[in-house]
Amino acid sequence: NRVVALIVAAGSGSRMGGGIPKQYRKVAGVPVIARAFDALVSHPKVDAVHIVIGASQETMLADALGDRVMTSSPGGATRRESVRAGLEAIGSAGRVLIHDAARPFLPATVIDRLIAALDEAEGAIPALPVVDTLVRAEGGVLGDNVEREGLARVQTPQAFRFDDILAAHRNWSGDAEPTDDAQVARAAGHKVLAVPGDAMLEKLTHEADFAAAEARLGAVMT
Ligand code: C5P
Repeated sequence: NRVVALIVAAGSGSRMGGGIPKQYRKVAGVPVIARAFDALVSHPKVDAVHIVIGASQETMLADALGDRVMTSSPGGATRRESVRAGLEAIGSAGRVLIHDAARPFLPATVIDRLIAALDEAEGAIPALPVVDTLVRAEGGVLGDNVEREGLARVQTPQAFRFDDILAAHRNWSGDAEPTDDAQVARAAGHKVLAVPGDAMLEKLTHEADFAAAEARLGAVMT
């Protein structure tokens, strides 16, 4: 019942305006992907970590992790294709934790909760409640409000029984591109549980997220 972590790092970071993709940039001196990798590789229940990277990202991965990389393989044009390719490259495992490289701050307690939840369902994801008011806002003009009660913000890692998520990806035939793997698992009819996520687990997406993360780290260290 081997637990393998799959880090997807093949994005080009278009929302950050070009340059080195966000997952290879440093936060307080340490590359984002190295923080995610360390959190997974150092967890006692995680047996191996596989990384999916984009075309011509080999040098960036080597700069970030050096010879600590266990295995890696090429990603695809979308996050979904990158995950599928990574699962195919891993081939077999008992359980898999699929994680965005762009989420560097991953508490061990979240991994514990996810793995425990797999005893009760085929999948588990970390989620946080929505605290802000939600409203449609196209072109900056407000439309209808969306009831926030019962909604959740979804994070990664997302944990699955390996054979189930591999088959779900192979059979995916949805129209809209899924932005996470729980959607793929649910489309295949699997039960997916939500466990408490963590505010630290936010995805670094925009330039300002880097400054905010460094400020938080600084506040913790002083
Ligand atoms: O773009 P987004 O923030 O949704 O990407 C989430 C994660 O998926 C990132 O770690 C990114 O590197 C990865 N990704 C990928 N292959 C793609 C697009 C995104 O591995 N084609």
